[in-house]
Amino acid sequence: MKVTVGVTGGIAAYKSAELVRDLQKHALDVHVVMTQAAQHFVQPLTFAALTGHKVITGLWAPEDSDTGEAASAIEHIDAAQTTDALVIAPATADILAKMAHGIADDFLTTMYLATTAPVIVAPAMNVNMWQHPATQANLETLASRNVRIVSPESGYLACGMVGAGRLAENSAIVEAVLSVLHHRNDLAGETVLITAGGTREALDPVRFLGNRSSGKMGYALADAAQRRGARVILVTAPTALRAPANAEVVQVITTEDMRRAVLDRLDQTTIVIKAAAVADYRPRVQVGQKLRRSGPLTLELEPTEDILAEVVERRRKGTLIIGFAAETEDALAHGRDKLLRKGADAIVLNDVSREGVGFDSDRNAVTFLTRDRAMELPEMSKRELADRILDEILELRHPRHMLSESDSDISVKSGA
Ligand code: PMT
Repeated sequence: MKVTVGVTGGIAAYKSAELVRDLQKHALDVHVVMTQAAQHFVQPLTFAALTGHKVITGLWAPEDSDTGEAASAIEHIDAAQTTDALVIAPATADILAKMAHGIADDFLTTMYLATTAPVIVAPAMNVNMWQHPATQANLETLASRNVRIVSPESGYLACGMVGAGRLAENSAIVEAVLSVLHHRNDLAGETVLITAGGTREALDPVRFLGNRSSGKMGYALADAAQRRGARVILVTAPTALRAPANAEVVQVITTEDMRRAVLDRLDQTTIVIKAAAVADYRPRVQVGQKLRRSGPLTLELEPTEDILAEVVERRRKGTLIIGFAAETEDALAHGRDKLLRKGADAIVLNDVSREGVGFDSDRNAVTFLTRDRAMELPEMSKRELADRILDEILELRHPRHMLSESDSDISVKSGA
């Protein structure tokens, strides 16, 4: 996991070097961003040597200043999107004020606004600055926006005064970082095969039958599973998404491609999650040349293979098979029908008629359906939902939730 340490200009900046080492001891990939003021206290080279990464020292890297090219101008967006946590230590009164007021006039403040990752600040400053109502008001604002504050300690300060304002111990800062990262390794030893995106069936060399799947749900599951220690095989139809760095990615286009890719890897897999929206029909005849427009056109379609059902049939003992179902009406009944008909261990039921969730949205709400229960997972980001779905899948391994042979009524529980 990637953690970005933001170093700002205070005497405690030298302690950030030790913080970087302590974070690295937890197998975290640490990157450093320094404000200009911080560079008066510590050289960027120190952090570059410790981390093995370029240290970011400004919005406009020297190599770009001649050309004025936008390359470094978007670096903060990339850094903001790829980090799993941003920890600013030491955080001066100045950076807290800028963060509270949304001022983005350097790399670190711009990155702060652009990131959706958890943010932690460890303030360090003179006791009067710390106690000043402006600083305290800024901290309150930041806390109300879910910024985690690791409060400074009391003691002798660099300015010669005694009181609160000394940077918290590294152990407290590291603990805060680990707790926001929710370090979990509960899928270690599992090989999770996830399908994602919408398959495409060619009509002619330039057109295809497709669907609205963006792949976001499947990719979120791949990311979550990998972060929880699983080996991940991502079988993906075309999407505009970047796959998790260490997943084994198998690109496919048609349902038949996906079928082969999944079946070929089934023996290595302990959990299959079929989040892809798979074409149920393909044109019976594929035309070799572009179809010309000449009045009404009738297409003859034939059913594709049901990959999910085939996977259930061919699985090794102990492999969990989880399907998805995208429904537009009578979702629970259709979902339950699919669960029983296809023989999966669970179906993640998507009511795709609802506004703002399902296809292409960043958010989703589902019901995790097994033969004996239905757990409602309310609307949340697809990434959060991915973790909740994985929690439910892991519960299936628990005897308490083993499949019952009965078709008894399903009670719906809320997982809110
Ligand atoms: O990709 P996003 O934009 O993030 O949107 C997410 C999603 C809505 C696509 C996803 O969450 C979802 O619901 N995926 C399943 C869509 C679908 O194909 O549902 P279905 O009810 O048609 O199929 C049921 C299950 O059978 C699915 O697991 C599907 O992968 C599988 N199937 C279907 C047809 C087929 N020929 N072979 C299959 O394996």
